[in-house]
Amino acid sequence: MVLSSIGICRGRLSEVIVTTYHSDGAPNAAPMGVLGLGGDNILLKVHRDTDTFENIRREGCCVVNVVFDPLLFLRCALVGRHKGSKVVETLDVLRAKVVSAPYIKGTNTYVEAELLSCEYVNRRDSFGPASVAKMTLKAVNIVVLSPFPVAPNRGLFAAIEIAVSLSRGMEKDVQGYLEVVKKTLPPEESEAVVDFVNSFVG
Ligand SMILES: Cc1cc2nc3c(=O)[nH]c(=O)nc-3n(C[C@H](O)[C@H](O)[C@H](O)COP(=O)(O)O)c2cc1C
Repeated sequence: MVLSSIGICRGRLSEVIVTTYHSDGAPNAAPMGVLGLGGDNILLKVHRDTDTFENIRREGCCVVNVVFDPLLFLRCALVGRHKGSKVVETLDVLRAKVVSAPYIKGTNTYVEAELLSCEYVNRRDSFGPASVAKMTLKAVNIVVLSPFPVAPNRGLFAAIEIAVSLSRGMEKDVQGYLEVVKKTLPPEESEAVVDFVNSFVG
Protein backbone atom coordinates (compact mmCIF):
# COMPACT_ATOMS: atom_id res chain seq x y z
CA MET A 1 0.00 0.00 0.00
CA VAL A 2 1.40 3.40 -0.98
CA LEU A 3 0.27 6.90 0.04
CA SER A 4 -0.75 7.88 -3.48
CA SER A 5 -3.28 5.03 -3.54
CA ILE A 6 -5.23 6.79 -0.76
CA GLY A 7 -5.04 10.18 -2.48
CA ILE A 8 -2.03 11.59 -0.64
CA CYS A 9 0.15 12.21 -3.67
CA ARG A 10 2.91 14.71 -4.44
CA GLY A 11 1.68 18.29 -4.50
CA ARG A 12 -1.86 17.56 -3.29
CA LEU A 13 -3.08 19.08 -0.03
CA SER A 14 -5.61 16.80 1.68
CA GLU A 15 -7.69 17.55 4.79
CA VAL A 16 -7.26 14.91 7.48
CA ILE A 17 -7.53 14.53 11.24
CA VAL A 18 -4.19 14.14 12.99
CA THR A 19 -4.22 12.17 16.25
CA THR A 20 -1.52 12.22 18.90
CA TYR A 21 -1.03 11.47 22.57
CA HIS A 22 -0.64 14.15 25.20
CA SER A 23 2.18 13.62 27.72
CA ASP A 24 -0.32 12.07 30.15
CA GLY A 25 -1.47 9.54 27.52
CA ALA A 26 -4.80 11.22 26.72
CA PRO A 27 -5.61 11.32 23.00
CA ASN A 28 -5.78 14.54 20.97
CA ALA A 29 -7.32 15.08 17.55
CA ALA A 30 -7.13 18.07 15.21
CA PRO A 31 -7.90 18.63 11.52
CA MET A 32 -4.77 19.49 9.54
CA GLY A 33 -3.81 19.85 5.90
CA VAL A 34 -1.38 17.16 4.78
CA LEU A 35 0.76 17.69 1.68
CA GLY A 36 2.07 14.68 -0.21
CA LEU A 37 5.80 15.00 -0.95
CA GLY A 38 6.03 11.90 -3.13
CA GLY A 39 6.91 8.37 -2.04
CA ASP A 40 6.36 7.78 1.68
CA ASN A 41 6.86 11.37 2.80
CA ILE A 42 4.31 13.97 3.87
CA LEU A 43 4.47 17.55 5.15
CA LEU A 44 2.39 19.06 7.94
CA LYS A 45 2.53 22.81 8.56
CA VAL A 46 1.52 22.97 12.19
CA HIS A 47 1.00 26.16 14.18
CA ARG A 48 3.31 26.12 17.14
CA ASP A 49 0.57 27.11 19.58
CA THR A 50 -1.36 23.85 18.99
CA ASP A 51 -1.35 20.66 21.07
CA THR A 52 -0.66 18.72 17.88
CA PHE A 53 2.67 20.51 17.46
CA GLU A 54 3.72 19.84 21.07
CA ASN A 55 2.69 16.19 20.87
CA ILE A 56 4.39 15.39 17.56
CA ARG A 57 7.57 17.14 18.69
CA ARG A 58 7.62 15.19 21.97
CA GLU A 59 6.57 11.74 20.64
CA GLY A 60 8.20 12.04 17.20
CA CYS A 61 5.12 10.67 15.47
CA CYS A 62 1.41 10.95 14.77
CA VAL A 63 -1.45 9.23 12.97
CA VAL A 64 -3.14 10.77 9.92
CA ASN A 65 -6.82 9.74 9.80
CA VAL A 66 -8.72 9.83 6.52
CA VAL A 67 -12.29 10.49 7.63
CA PHE A 68 -15.52 11.62 5.98
CA ASP A 69 -17.47 12.73 9.06
CA PRO A 70 -18.50 16.44 8.86
CA LEU A 71 -19.24 16.81 12.59
CA LEU A 72 -15.94 15.21 13.56
CA PHE A 73 -14.01 17.85 11.56
CA LEU A 74 -15.92 20.57 13.42
CA ARG A 75 -15.58 19.03 16.87
CA CYS A 76 -11.89 18.25 16.55
CA ALA A 77 -11.16 21.78 15.29
CA LEU A 78 -13.13 23.59 17.95
CA VAL A 79 -13.38 21.62 21.19
CA GLY A 80 -10.99 19.69 23.38
CA ARG A 81 -8.08 20.32 25.70
CA HIS A 82 -6.93 23.96 25.55
CA LYS A 83 -10.00 24.65 23.42
CA GLY A 84 -12.57 24.89 26.18
CA SER A 85 -13.73 21.33 26.90
CA LYS A 86 -12.60 17.74 27.15
CA VAL A 87 -14.90 16.39 24.45
CA VAL A 88 -12.25 15.48 21.88
CA GLU A 89 -9.89 13.91 24.37
CA THR A 90 -12.49 11.28 25.20
CA LEU A 91 -12.97 10.46 21.52
CA ASP A 92 -13.15 6.81 20.57
CA VAL A 93 -9.58 5.84 19.69
CA LEU A 94 -7.33 2.79 19.65
CA ARG A 95 -3.56 2.63 19.92
CA ALA A 96 -1.81 2.40 16.55
CA LYS A 97 0.41 -0.60 15.84
CA VAL A 98 3.81 0.93 15.07
CA VAL A 99 3.97 4.49 16.43
CA SER A 100 3.02 5.94 19.81
CA ALA A 101 -0.20 7.63 18.70
CA PRO A 102 -3.89 6.73 18.57
CA TYR A 103 -6.16 6.35 15.56
CA ILE A 104 -9.87 7.15 15.41
CA LYS A 105 -11.98 3.99 15.66
CA GLY A 106 -14.39 4.96 12.88
CA THR A 107 -11.71 6.21 10.46
CA ASN A 108 -11.82 5.01 6.87
CA THR A 109 -8.04 4.72 6.63
CA TYR A 110 -5.13 5.71 8.83
CA VAL A 111 -1.47 6.37 8.25
CA GLU A 112 1.11 5.97 11.00
CA ALA A 113 3.89 8.49 10.50
CA GLU A 114 7.30 9.17 12.06
CA LEU A 115 8.86 12.62 12.25
CA LEU A 116 11.92 13.02 10.01
CA SER A 117 12.62 16.74 10.39
CA CYS A 118 11.14 19.96 11.68
CA GLU A 119 11.84 23.48 10.42
CA TYR A 120 10.44 26.62 12.03
CA VAL A 121 9.16 29.48 9.91
CA ASN A 122 7.48 32.75 10.74
CA ARG A 123 4.93 33.77 8.16
CA ARG A 124 2.25 36.36 7.69
CA ASP A 125 -1.05 35.53 6.04
CA SER A 126 -4.45 37.19 5.91
CA PHE A 127 -4.92 36.28 9.60
CA GLY A 128 -1.71 38.02 10.70
CA PRO A 129 1.69 36.69 11.80
CA ALA A 130 2.04 32.99 12.60
CA SER A 131 4.82 30.77 13.84
CA VAL A 132 4.63 27.47 12.02
CA ALA A 133 6.55 24.19 12.22
CA LYS A 134 7.10 22.50 8.86
CA MET A 135 7.15 18.87 9.92
CA THR A 136 8.28 16.27 7.39
CA LEU A 137 7.10 12.78 8.28
CA LYS A 138 7.47 9.33 6.80
CA ALA A 139 4.52 6.94 6.51
CA VAL A 140 5.52 3.69 8.18
CA ASN A 141 2.16 1.88 8.15
CA ILE A 142 -1.03 2.43 6.15
CA VAL A 143 -4.19 0.64 7.27
CA VAL A 144 -7.40 0.70 5.23
CA LEU A 145 -10.29 -0.16 7.55
CA SER A 146 -13.08 0.59 5.09
CA PRO A 147 -12.10 -0.20 1.51
CA PHE A 148 -15.36 1.07 0.02
CA PRO A 149 -15.39 4.25 -2.09
CA VAL A 150 -17.05 7.29 -0.52
CA ALA A 151 -19.06 9.38 -2.98
CA PRO A 152 -18.25 13.10 -2.65
CA ASN A 153 -20.78 15.03 -0.58
CA ARG A 154 -20.95 18.84 -0.51
CA GLY A 155 -22.08 18.82 3.13
CA LEU A 156 -18.68 17.45 4.15
CA PHE A 157 -16.85 20.11 2.15
CA ALA A 158 -19.10 22.83 3.56
CA ALA A 159 -18.54 21.61 7.13
CA ILE A 160 -14.77 21.60 6.54
CA GLU A 161 -14.92 25.22 5.30
CA ILE A 162 -16.95 26.18 8.39
CA ALA A 163 -14.40 24.42 10.63
CA VAL A 164 -11.52 26.29 8.95
CA SER A 165 -13.26 29.65 9.36
CA LEU A 166 -14.34 29.13 12.97
CA SER A 167 -10.94 27.73 13.99
CA ARG A 168 -9.52 31.06 12.78
CA GLY A 169 -12.17 33.05 14.64
CA MET A 170 -13.99 34.06 11.44
CA GLU A 171 -17.75 33.79 10.91
CA LYS A 172 -17.85 35.06 7.33
CA ASP A 173 -19.66 32.70 4.90
CA VAL A 174 -20.66 30.31 7.73
CA GLN A 175 -24.41 30.79 7.22
CA GLY A 176 -24.06 30.14 3.46
CA TYR A 177 -22.16 26.91 4.10
CA LEU A 178 -24.82 25.86 6.63
CA GLU A 179 -27.39 26.10 3.83
CA VAL A 180 -25.30 23.61 1.82
CA VAL A 181 -25.11 21.34 4.89
CA LYS A 182 -28.92 21.45 5.27
CA LYS A 183 -29.44 20.69 1.57
CA THR A 184 -26.99 17.82 1.22
CA LEU A 185 -26.78 15.86 4.47
CA PRO A 186 -29.53 13.66 5.93
CA PRO A 187 -31.70 15.56 8.47
CA GLU A 188 -30.26 13.95 11.62
CA GLU A 189 -26.68 14.66 10.47
CA SER A 190 -27.35 18.19 9.26
CA GLU A 191 -29.27 19.07 12.46
CA ALA A 192 -26.30 17.93 14.56
CA VAL A 193 -23.93 20.07 12.47
CA VAL A 194 -26.24 23.10 12.55
CA ASP A 195 -26.72 22.84 16.35
CA PHE A 196 -22.98 22.47 16.93
CA VAL A 197 -22.09 25.41 14.67
CA ASN A 198 -24.80 27.63 16.15
CA SER A 199 -23.35 27.03 19.60
CA PHE A 200 -20.16 28.70 18.32
CA VAL A 201 -21.42 31.63 16.29
CA GLY A 202 -22.81 34.80 17.80
C1 LIG B 1 -9.84 21.49 7.59
C2 LIG B 1 -8.89 22.12 8.56
C3 LIG B 1 -7.55 22.15 8.27
C4 LIG B 1 -6.63 22.71 9.17
N1 LIG B 1 -5.31 22.70 8.86
C5 LIG B 1 -4.41 23.15 9.76
C6 LIG B 1 -3.01 23.06 9.47
O1 LIG B 1 -2.58 22.59 8.41
N2 LIG B 1 -2.15 23.52 10.41
C7 LIG B 1 -2.59 24.02 11.62
O2 LIG B 1 -1.74 24.38 12.45
N3 LIG B 1 -3.91 24.12 11.91
C8 LIG B 1 -4.82 23.70 11.02
N4 LIG B 1 -6.17 23.77 11.30
C9 LIG B 1 -6.61 24.35 12.59
C10 LIG B 1 -6.48 23.34 13.73
O3 LIG B 1 -7.24 22.18 13.49
C11 LIG B 1 -7.00 24.01 15.02
O4 LIG B 1 -6.17 25.10 15.35
C12 LIG B 1 -7.06 23.05 16.17
O5 LIG B 1 -7.77 23.68 17.23
C13 LIG B 1 -5.72 22.61 16.71
O6 LIG B 1 -5.97 21.65 17.72
P1 LIG B 1 -4.90 21.10 18.73
O7 LIG B 1 -4.49 22.24 19.64
O8 LIG B 1 -5.61 20.01 19.46
O9 LIG B 1 -3.72 20.59 17.93
C14 LIG B 1 -7.10 23.26 10.41
C15 LIG B 1 -8.46 23.24 10.69
C16 LIG B 1 -9.36 22.69 9.78
C17 LIG B 1 -10.82 22.67 10.11
